[in-house]
Amino acid sequence: MYKYIFAILAVMFAVSSACSNSPWKTASPSVVKLPADLSAAELAFHEAKMMEIAQYAINETYHNNKIPNAIFTASIVHPNGTTICMDRNRGEDSSIRHGETQVILACSEKFKKNTWKGYYLYTTGESCPMCQAAIMWAGFDKVIYGTSVKTLYCELCMSQILVESNFINGYGYGLNDAGNVTLEIIGEVLTNVTTPQVFRNWCPGQGNETFWTIHPKCNSDYSPSCVNGSSILSTNFVFTFVAIMVIAISMLF
Ligand SMILES: *[C@@H]1O[C@H](CO)[C@@H](O)[C@H](O)[C@H]1NC(C)=O
Ligand SMILES: *[C@@H]1O[C@H](CO)[C@@H](O)[C@H](O)[C@H]1NC(C)=O
Ligand SMILES: *[C@@H]1O[C@H](CO)[C@@H](O)[C@H](O)[C@H]1NC(C)=O
Ligand SMILES: *[C@@H]1O[C@H](CO)[C@@H](O)[C@H](O)[C@H]1NC(C)=O
Ligand SMILES: *[C@@H]1O[C@H](CO)[C@@H](O)[C@H](O)[C@H]1NC(C)=O
Repeated sequence: MYKYIFAILAVMFAVSSACSNSPWKTASPSVVKLPADLSAAELAFHEAKMMEIAQYAINETYHNNKIPNAIFTASIVHPNGTTICMDRNRGEDSSIRHGETQVILACSEKFKKNTWKGYYLYTTGESCPMCQAAIMWAGFDKVIYGTSVKTLYCELCMSQILVESNFINGYGYGLNDAGNVTLEIIGEVLTNVTTPQVFRNWCPGQGNETFWTIHPKCNSDYSPSCVNGSSILSTNFVFTFVAIMVIAISMLF
């Protein structure tokens, strides 16, 4: 009996290893550096630049001009600390004028510059797939965001395309001849300002419902503190533990 199963498996292996359905290797999401991964000096630099766009976003959204789209503000910064350009989401003109695409287009036009190698892009919210791709095409060295897509969608009930920026970034290995990912993503910088002061809780029943309010379809066991799928108290962990105990005990008899 076993030799037939082995033969079938061997044939299946031979057939499956003959060629690939996939034209290239599936990319792992690229690493996202978090504030804890940075030196104190680098973190201070990014926090100051994040504060600058957060302040602009707060001013424009809630004080000066009351433009809801200004929650998404982005800047282009030279590593010497100079902010070259700052702009906001101009969704009132076109729904693809997000903070990032807008600041790249406006700054390129202003400086007659088509590539941003050697520069950093700051954004109050993690980039959507369109903007992440734009930042990659534009050649930035680093993108630094405040509030993540998962927080915007799962916790604040904002409509989002559910692909995190580092999933797109992982596929950036096709952009250069070396076949590596060159754009560094630094996430969750100054979220203690961006999440409560720039963004709102748009969830139904919070009194802030707007055109982008959605009912999130997040996994019921999702937890922002879950690391690599394991939390000592997660239901998965408990189920796995119980299952192993049941198997272990049943093997005793
Ligand atoms: C925000 O508004 C305050 C008060 O009007 C002003 O002092 C500050 O320069 C503004 N900041 C930005 C980045 O627009
Ligand atoms: C910083 O870089 C910008 C853009 O390249 C340049 O215009 C500016 O002079 C530089 N400032 C310093 C202090 O080096
Ligand atoms: C990508 O590869 C090039 C060429 O080998 C190298 O110079 C560069 O440092 C690499 N960049 C990263 C981020 O790995
Ligand atoms: C946010 O956190 C930073 C440290 O990461 C701190 O310097 C800053 O004072 C905090 N701001 C607020 C409004 O809590
Ligand atoms: C709206 O959102 C803010 C910020 O998230 C929150 O503090 C507030 O309770 C929400 N509801 C109302 C009615 O403002």
